[in-house]
This record gives sequence, C-alpha cells and structure tokens, in this order.
Amino acid sequence: MRRKLAAGNWKMNGTSDALAQLTALRNAHPTPGVDILICPPATLISAAVVTAADHPLAIGGQDCHMAQIGAHTGDISAAMLKDAGASYVLTGHSERRTDHNETDEMIRNKTKAAHAEGLIAVVCIGETLKEREAANTLDIIAGQLAGSLPDVLTAENTVIAYEPVWAIGTGKVPTTNQIGEVHDYIRTKLEQRYGAGVGKSIRILYGGSVKGSNADEIFAVSNVDGALVGGASLKAEDFSPIITALENA
Ligand code: 13P
Repeated sequence: MRRKLAAGNWKMNGTSDALAQLTALRNAHPTPGVDILICPPATLISAAVVTAADHPLAIGGQDCHMAQIGAHTGDISAAMLKDAGASYVLTGHSERRTDHNETDEMIRNKTKAAHAEGLIAVVCIGETLKEREAANTLDIIAGQLAGSLPDVLTAENTVIAYEPVWAIGTGKVPTTNQIGEVHDYIRTKLEQRYGAGVGKSIRILYGGSVKGSNADEIFAVSNVDGALVGGASLKAEDFSPIITALENA
C-alpha cells in the first residue's frame, strides 16, 4: 500500500555534465515500478527537470529556507524550488544539522514551508555513533520525530528518512535487525501521533552506505519503504541496481 521510493541525494556534487546520468537513468528505467527521486545541487534543478520531462523521475531540492521570501543571502525558499520544477525537498539532513546548526525547530519550520508550497518533504533523522553506543538511539529518534515533524501532515506530503549519521559515507551499515528496530519504532511513533491511517501510510526510507550489493537485504527489512542514497546515486550505473532491487523487493 506504500509506494516504494528510491531517492538519490547528490549533495554538493555535480555540474551540467552530471545531467547525462539522469538521461542514463531514465533510459535504464523507462517505466519504473517504484518512485524515483534525484535531489541534485540547486544549480542543476531547472535543467534536471527538463532532462526528466515526460518521465516519472522526480527532482527535489536538498534544503529550503523556512521563510517564504526575504533577506537571507544564499538561501532558497520552497517556493523557488517549486518554481524550478522540484516536487520534493530534503529537510534536516544530518549534514545540514551539523554544518549549519539546524535544530529540530528549524527543520519543522522548513518542513511546514515545504508543505505550504505543495512540496513533499523528506524529513531526515538519525543518531550519531556516540548516541548509539550510549544506547540512546530510540530516544534520539523519538526526540527528532517529535521536534522535526509538524503536527499537521499527510502521508502524501511527508516521507521519513532514517539515516544513522555513522553510516553516511562510511561504508558501515547497521545490521538488518538494527534497521528494523528503528523503522518499526518510527512506524509506531507515527501511528501514535498521526493515527493509524496516516501513520501506516507514511513512507520510511533507510539511508547510509546503501549500494547495489546491500540493497536486497536492506529492502527486505520490515517498514523499509525505500532508500535515500548519497554516493551510489551519483552514477546511473550504481543507482540503477538499487532501483531494480527495490522493484523486486
Ligand atoms: P551515502 O549513501 O553516501 O552513505 O549517503 C547517505 C546520505 O546521506 C543520503 O542523504
């Protein structure tokens, strides 16, 4: 009942020549059986939308400002992303939380700003290694969910991405039991807060060192509805097997 989502976050990688990867991706998956999203750097969004035209491949931003408009040099509003043709935006990625000191409150407000423009927000949460080693993972997840999600949302405008900070870009992946524990916990929390209908319908992605070689086992875990992929989304030949694994899950 939840449509699976294979999402790629290009982070601060890619100039115009990277659009060829989108062309290769759409050619490799002319009629994908899952939703596909690529979040290129903001400079490429408009061109990426053109490259993805007439194909279900969706394009998203990697961040948005919480305000609609104003004196915020270097920032991008949700309305601007929408205008550029984006349909999704990531909020609260751990690199934003760390590099830009983003708090749960800021992320909640960014998520609301995204919703106000009709964008689907992919709200990212996840514990650090220190927090996991201190056996605080579920408390951290509960706090981030409580703080980063608005009180009003729908399963159509919100996706959760569980990305353990220590698994991002490190090649370290939690065990399937560890992933399952957190995803089941997120599901329970969503059902408690938003009711069973919405709570059961929100998609929960796993992110952190997902590759073609580990995708099958990750996608077999309960309540894993897809992946948010960094490094392995930059090249179509690396991302394509992840999409196929999700189609087959
Ligand atoms: P990697 O897939 O490179 O570990 O990055 C995950 C991530 O941060 C996606 O948002």
